[in-house]
Amino acid sequence: MARQRGVLFVVCLISLATLWSCRLPKMCVYSQCNTDSGPRTTPASSTNIDDGLDLSQPDAPFVSWPLARVCKETTWTPGIVFVCDNNSGGIGNIRNYILTCVRYAIEAGAAGLVLPTIRTRSEADLSSLMQSQQGFDYFFDEGHFRKSLQGACPQFTIYSSTDDIPNAMSPFQAEPLTPRNLGVRGGCDNRELNKHSDRFGLQFRAHVQQHAEEFNMLLPSPKHPRGYRLNWGVQWDFPVHRDGPEFVASFGGLLKFRADILDLGRKTAAYMRAFAAAHDQAERSRAYAGMHLRTESDALSNWPRFENQSGAYLKRASSMKLQAAYLATGNKTEAEKLARSASSTYDMGVVTKHELLKDHPVDLKALEVLTWDQQALVDFVVLLDCDYFLGVSPSSFSMNVALKRHLKADGLHTRPWKVGGDGDAWSWLVGSYQRYWDDWLFMYDSLWP
Ligand SMILES: *[C@@H]1O[C@H](CO)[C@@H](O)[C@H](O)[C@H]1NC(C)=O
Ligand SMILES: *[C@@H]1O[C@H](CO)[C@@H](O)[C@H](O)[C@H]1NC(C)=O
Ligand SMILES: *[C@@H]1O[C@H](CO)[C@@H](O)[C@H](O)[C@H]1NC(C)=O
Repeated sequence: MARQRGVLFVVCLISLATLWSCRLPKMCVYSQCNTDSGPRTTPASSTNIDDGLDLSQPDAPFVSWPLARVCKETTWTPGIVFVCDNNSGGIGNIRNYILTCVRYAIEAGAAGLVLPTIRTRSEADLSSLMQSQQGFDYFFDEGHFRKSLQGACPQFTIYSSTDDIPNAMSPFQAEPLTPRNLGVRGGCDNRELNKHSDRFGLQFRAHVQQHAEEFNMLLPSPKHPRGYRLNWGVQWDFPVHRDGPEFVASFGGLLKFRADILDLGRKTAAYMRAFAAAHDQAERSRAYAGMHLRTESDALSNWPRFENQSGAYLKRASSMKLQAAYLATGNKTEAEKLARSASSTYDMGVVTKHELLKDHPVDLKALEVLTWDQQALVDFVVLLDCDYFLGVSPSSFSMNVALKRHLKADGLHTRPWKVGGDGDAWSWLVGSYQRYWDDWLFMYDSLWP
């Protein structure tokens, strides 16, 4: 009995001591934090040169050091060539597919990269995605891409096409690759981002080795190059914030829009300012809202409907005293419907790019020779320019615009967009934010603006 009591006493004593000692280090740490608020530990290179850059601009200069740093950390293998062409959809999907592919190519140490191409879709049936391939310059500025990527990562050789890879087999063949399949998947939803992106390089090299042994092939080398093609649908896969905010904020800058489309976008934005001033006779305010109405025939059925989008947009814009709005949508009928309701309920003037360019025949012509998806780039540029953007989640186009505008906050140091709230100072996306998977919220974690 006495012995038991002794044990109890000791246990009590130990517990008390543990409790007490647990408190102590905490208190120390706190006080240290309070007194030691000296110099911030941001790297010097990121403070002077790059601060004050407005990375939300469609033609912002490319900040290369975050990419250069990632490329320097990689083990490169000459003879491994990545092909980034199995993509589809609008600009949001295409951009992120290409960026995902390039990011994985770096991690794989693929010293060869074929200039990405873009798969078009049918104009007659927007949901028919798998049409012919177009070149990189269907959307983007090729010179800018080459210069920026090579400048940051001289380890890459960029081939204009698969025909240009020296010593490649003819016809060229590439092994299809879904990066996340190289790790042990785990989790319970197959839309889960790749939790093994840090280990992808190791796993990829092991895969290459194993494959060579299995099929009795030579390892990749400049004499025996080996192609890898990222499969369709891998664009929402890479947990972008693993690379730090400066990388997230700058990487997308590789994909600048083609100069003529950028120019047309800027002109359209200028016409929009004039429209806003003319509409708001009293104030002559040139401010305008940007709206992305995503109700085209290929919008998914469980997305917010026309009424949900238009109602929320108009209410919000009017509460911000915006009397003019630029409307991006591929559906003319619905555009007219929204414009009517804006005019009758809020005395707000709403126009589309086609209406703005009506009085500028040369520009209208330039717009009309573009395809539906190319015309959307003009919208993208104007929406980046507007004073407040209203879009819809989970449209990758809306998300892309909102996240790029969000870079205004702190440039390179921008913290992630807060998902599911009231938006930020520049944008708000209506939508459903309950379910991480079914509401496609994982896209916010895998998108480079
Ligand atoms: C593109 O990806 C799809 C889906 O993963 C796959 O079935 C198809 O074979 C790929 N195309 C090529 C050319 O590899
Ligand atoms: C436009 O929206 C209407 C519904 O208001 C729909 O019936 C039509 O298919 C849509 N058109 C396109 C081109 O998406
Ligand atoms: C859309 O509006 C309807 C009716 O107002 C509402 O029941 C529904 O929950 C809304 N959906 C979304 C996604 O906001």
